[in-house]
Amino acid sequence: MSDSDLILRGGRLDSRKFPGRRLPPDDQLPEQRNSSPTNKDLNNDTAATPSSSSTSANEENTGTAWYTPLTLPFYDYHVLGFNMSFVWRCPTSSVLLPFFRQNFTLNHLDVGVATGYFPSAALLQLQQQQQQQQQQQKENHQGSSSPIPTTTTAAAPAALTLMDLNPHSLEAARSRILRDNSNPGSVEIETVQHDALSLPAPGVLRRRRFASVSMFNLLHCIPAPCEEKTRAFELAAQCLLDGGVLAGCTVLPVEEAVGAGAGGWWRVPLAGLHLRVYNSEGGRRVFGNLGDTREVLERGLRRWFDEVEVKVVGCMLLFRGKGPKRAGTEEDG
Ligand SMILES: C[S@@+](CC[C@H](N)C(=O)[O-])C[C@H]1O[C@@H](n2cnc3c(N)ncnc32)[C@H](O)[C@@H]1O
Repeated sequence: MSDSDLILRGGRLDSRKFPGRRLPPDDQLPEQRNSSPTNKDLNNDTAATPSSSSTSANEENTGTAWYTPLTLPFYDYHVLGFNMSFVWRCPTSSVLLPFFRQNFTLNHLDVGVATGYFPSAALLQLQQQQQQQQQQQKENHQGSSSPIPTTTTAAAPAALTLMDLNPHSLEAARSRILRDNSNPGSVEIETVQHDALSLPAPGVLRRRRFASVSMFNLLHCIPAPCEEKTRAFELAAQCLLDGGVLAGCTVLPVEEAVGAGAGGWWRVPLAGLHLRVYNSEGGRRVFGNLGDTREVLERGLRRWFDEVEVKVVGCMLLFRGKGPKRAGTEEDG
């Protein structure tokens, strides 16, 4: 981990300054102090008692253990390239990246980051658009007869927060975004080590609030009953501004995807075998999604968001929730 990170470890803030941004040291809200978190820290320094089978301690949670400095360099080619196009039949370039971009803002939280491909690509595109607009404004001024220069407001730096249970993923994503970004001063990155199913969300994020949250390819990795995975939606709702948007995607079991609109199983011929392997001991249980259903996930979204859209492409469930409901107002949809 670099010195420039801010890491929240199982409810304890290990605040290491990073450029241009320092978050309050008193991270925890009172209810968080009193709660019994369901995750254990990687370093075991804040080991907490798991409350259920959804324990996502990194050393037990093989859904995070796969992501190491040895495997992460292959992630984009294998997972986002081959698997998305040929196994799940939901290509990154034509489906997932456009969907991510549609729901990305310059005040964004990405949950479950791996290599940071999506936020990095989306950020780059938004910044290029901003540069083009500024260039356009300049040219308009040069072409005008007015002696008064048009005021071009300097774009505020993008604020990007990365949350993951695995520090290797956090570091890989953070350095990738800084590397891809031609103007590193234009983005402020925070990293938070936290289990996406552990509620409440870190106090520092609930106070900060985001315009958009993404959760791409996370839920199928988590070895928990489907109903428990919907806690991640509650976590996102807690971190969002009023009217903010959560977008994500997760691989469904083949029979679910077929029933939910993927068409016949022959449209996803490689998916069944891959699902069995990825959910098996031999496949190191990189997935834990055989019990996932569109219905439970959609109901979980409706519990926490005013407007919900879901769509199945190949084996992938794409979901979007807009307008987080606040605790006390939620109703079971
Ligand atoms: C398949 S990768 C998805 C990465 C990226 N969003 C994408 O679509 O390419 C899953 C990421 O989620 C993280 N992860 C798995 N279980 C988690 C949990 N319970 N809480 C937070 N992060 C988790 C893993 O460490 C990994 O970085």
